[in-house]
Amino acid sequence: NKNRELQETRDWLPDPGNIIFIRQQQPLGLGHAVWCARNVIGDEPFAVLLADDIILSKTPCLKQLVDAYQKVGGNVIGAADIEREKTSSYGVFDIAKNEGAFVHAKGLVEKPKPENAPSQTAVFGRYILQPSIFKYLDKQKAGVGGEIQLTDAIREAMADTPLTGFRFEGERFDCGNREGFVEANIAFALARPDMHDRMQAILKKYAKQ
Ligand code: G1P
Repeated sequence: NKNRELQETRDWLPDPGNIIFIRQQQPLGLGHAVWCARNVIGDEPFAVLLADDIILSKTPCLKQLVDAYQKVGGNVIGAADIEREKTSSYGVFDIAKNEGAFVHAKGLVEKPKPENAPSQTAVFGRYILQPSIFKYLDKQKAGVGGEIQLTDAIREAMADTPLTGFRFEGERFDCGNREGFVEANIAFALARPDMHDRMQAILKKYAKQ
């Protein structure tokens, strides 16, 4: 009689035919992964969400980005300020102008060394992109790390599509490293009223070690 659990599971099941999976047959980079979905996307603006970048926020990050996109159009990417020594883990904006939460870009560099980074404002894994990006991804040109980089295509696309970063509100977790993954789990558990108190007691117990 676990009817509540059954209902919770059923509630989020999408209607049949609404989810399509594309397999990237070779690990050639993020740009290549997105390119693999080109025929499904067709001629529409689309969103890219990197699953290892998690955001805890009142308004979902993608909704914030969609609202920002409706103001500026073009390509819009999640932006976050980082420590200079971390630039080589991220795409980094070359900034023409900051305007509130908007970052008007004049360039974008993938994983620059701290001494070469044009700013400390990084790409965080949420994107709204125009389908014209495929013109650039079609070139299949490898960049940093020998990978076909989405960042490179977005920078090249600046020839016809303006690029704006948006500093979204919310707490960011980079689950691409183990500590970030554990921290995200703790933060999300604490954010749930039904788990908060028990989680806090558990954390207190281990904090002593
Ligand atoms: C990817 C992107 C990078 C972005 C980062 C965000 O890098 O290439 O531009 O800043 O995600 O997490 P990855 O983490 O896959 O190396």
